Amino acid sequence: MAEGKTSRTFTGSSLQTGLFGRKIIYYPRVTSTMDVAREEARKGTDTGTVVIAGDQTEGRGRIKRTWLSPKGNIAFSVVLYPEVSYLPFLVVIAALAVARSIEEITGLETQIKWPNDILIGKKKVSGILIENEVKRKKVLYAIVGIGINTDVTPVQKESSALPATCLKDELGGNVIRTNIIKQILQEMERLYLELPVSEPMLREWRDRLVTLGRSVRVCSDGTTLEGVAEAVDATGSLLLRYADGSSTTIVAGDVTLRDNDKE
Ligand code: BTN
Repeated sequence: MAEGKTSRTFTGSSLQTGLFGRKIIYYPRVTSTMDVAREEARKGTDTGTVVIAGDQTEGRGRIKRTWLSPKGNIAFSVVLYPEVSYLPFLVVIAALAVARSIEEITGLETQIKWPNDILIGKKKVSGILIENEVKRKKVLYAIVGIGINTDVTPVQKESSALPATCLKDELGGNVIRTNIIKQILQEMERLYLELPVSEPMLREWRDRLVTLGRSVRVCSDGTTLEGVAEAVDATGSLLLRYADGSSTTIVAGDVTLRDNDKE
């Protein structure tokens, strides 16, 4: 699963958090940081433990997709033990933390494509994966996995995939990966400690969503639905309005923006 573990702890001055990243486990190469984080969580590691990989050989994305994670890009997972009612908001706080941090460190403008893609222009630069185990309404653990194309734009095999980009290409220069990771951990901890989700948090998330008001195709639970992405509700679910005026609420799915297909 992993090669050459190095565990280290940031000092208070370099990372301004109380929980997130107090314990950091670094591997030059792993199958997936989600696997290592899950193993750590099952052993009861501290809240906010971070697993970072140099590269992943079996990186994964949502809906059983592969996440290509070559050396030079960011791949890490954070272990949390939230209340069950907070689970739907982990993607909200993670997406906001990534979007804000990329903007803060690089000056590049970002958008969010519901529920978990971070875009620059119309191209995907980052993805978020949440995995959890719940037993009798108690969260045993939740893992927030974040991948960011920093130095390399992966070559995608799926023709339907959103076009991708990397920060280096967008900026025309290098970014320091640790600065981005630190900023994300700080932003995400602040938002996590604010849960349950506040109105300003939801408002910022909605404002950053490129999806709203757009004609979309949503793959959810094996079916494809088409309509206009009208709104997101207080739990982060998407309200899809069909052409006949009726509507449905989607908790999880994969969205394609139809007005510029292949997005
Ligand atoms: C997606 O866009 O579908 C989500 C991609 C999530 C990728 C990250 S990289 C760190 C962590 N480890 C993984 O195997 N996946 C997540």
